[in-house]
Amino acid sequence: QKLELQLEMLEKGGYDHFMLKEIYEQPRSVRDCLRGRIYPQQGKVQLGGVKEYVEKLKNVDRIIIVACGTSWHAGLVGEYLIEEYARVPVEVEYASEFRYRNPIITEKDLVIAISQSGETADTMAAIELAKEKGATIFGICNVVGASIPRLSHAGVYTHAGPEIGVASTKAFTAQVTALTLMAFYIAQQRGTITESKLIEYLTELNEIPTLIEKTLKTNDHVQIIADKFKDSTNCLFLGRGSSFPVALEGALKLKEISYIHAEGYPAAEMKHGPIALIDEDMPVVFIATKNSSYEKVISNIQEVRARGGHVIAIVSEGDTVVRDMADYVIEIPQTSEAFVPLLATIPLQLLSYHIAVMRGCNVDQPRNLAKSVTVE
Ligand code: AGP
Repeated sequence: QKLELQLEMLEKGGYDHFMLKEIYEQPRSVRDCLRGRIYPQQGKVQLGGVKEYVEKLKNVDRIIIVACGTSWHAGLVGEYLIEEYARVPVEVEYASEFRYRNPIITEKDLVIAISQSGETADTMAAIELAKEKGATIFGICNVVGASIPRLSHAGVYTHAGPEIGVASTKAFTAQVTALTLMAFYIAQQRGTITESKLIEYLTELNEIPTLIEKTLKTNDHVQIIADKFKDSTNCLFLGRGSSFPVALEGALKLKEISYIHAEGYPAAEMKHGPIALIDEDMPVVFIATKNSSYEKVISNIQEVRARGGHVIAIVSEGDTVVRDMADYVIEIPQTSEAFVPLLATIPLQLLSYHIAVMRGCNVDQPRNLAKSVTVE
C-alpha cells in the first residue's frame, strides 16, 4: 500500500492532485496540440488528419458539433470561431439530445464529434446516427485509438496527454485549440480569411502557450479569492460571445468538484431571470476582458453591484475601469478575442480547484462522477 501511495505521488509529479498537475500542464498540452500544424510566417495551417476532406470543407454548408459536458462547451467556442472565420453555419448539440430526436442530417453535412475519452456512449451513438444518414464525421479526441476516432472518417487528435482528474481541464483547452485550428483551416480552404490576417492570428496563437504560463501566475491571488468565497452556496458565471461557454465551463467545474450550485449564463440574459437571485450572498464571476462586448459587460457588472452582489472579474491586464467596480479582479494577458477562452478558462479552473480543496472535497474523484461516461 505504501508503494502504491508513493507511485501515485510520483505520478502526480509533486502536485497535491492530478487536477492541479493537469492545470499546470496546459502550456505544454496546448503547444503539443499546435505542433507541426501551424506555420505562422507562411500564414498556413496544416491538419494532416482531415486533408483528404479538403473538397468537402470547401463546399460544406453546415457543420453540426456533437458532444457532452465540457466537450460540449468547447464545441460552443468552436461554433463562434468557425462562424466568425470560416463563415459556415454551425449547430452545437448535446449528443444525448441529438440522438433521441429525429435530426435532419444529409450527406452534405459535416458532423464534428468532440470527446476527451473517445468512449462517451451518447457521443458515439450520435455519430452512428449521423453516419447512417450519410454525413461525414470528424472526431476531435484526446485518447488515441479510442472508439470515436475509429468511428470517424477523419479527425484531429488533441495531444493533451492522459487526463486523470475527473474534472476536465487540459483536455478542454486542447479541444479549443484544435477547434481554433479547424476554424482557420476551413477559412483558409474557403478563402474567407486573408493570408496577412492568418499570419497575424497564427503568430499570436503560437504565443498562447507562453501567455497561459503567465496566466498561471495568478494562482496565489486566485487562492486568496477562493478563501473568501469557499462557503458560498451559489455562484453565477457570466460572459458574452465566446466567453459565454467559458462561463458555462467555469460553473461546471465549480459544481462538479466543490458541490457549490453554480450557473453559467450569457451576461445579457441575466436581466431575463437570474437577476432576481442577486443579493449580498451571491458571488458573480464575470469574464470582462477588453473585447467587442466590453462596454456591455461593464453595464452588467453595474447591475450586479447595484443589487449588492459580489463581483469577481477576469479582466485584461492593466484594466482600471472594472477594477474600480469589482470586489476582486484577476488579470490575464491581453489577446485577440479569438484566443480569450484559452486564457480566461485558466483562473476559473484554479478558482474551483482551490475552493474544492478548502471545502475538503475529493478533487480528483468527485462523488457520483466517472471519468468516462460509457452508459447512456
Ligand atoms: C468534465 O469536467 C466532465 N467530467 C464531463 O462533463 C465530460 O466532459 C463529459 O462526460 C464528456 O466526456 P468526453 O469528453 O470524454 O466525451
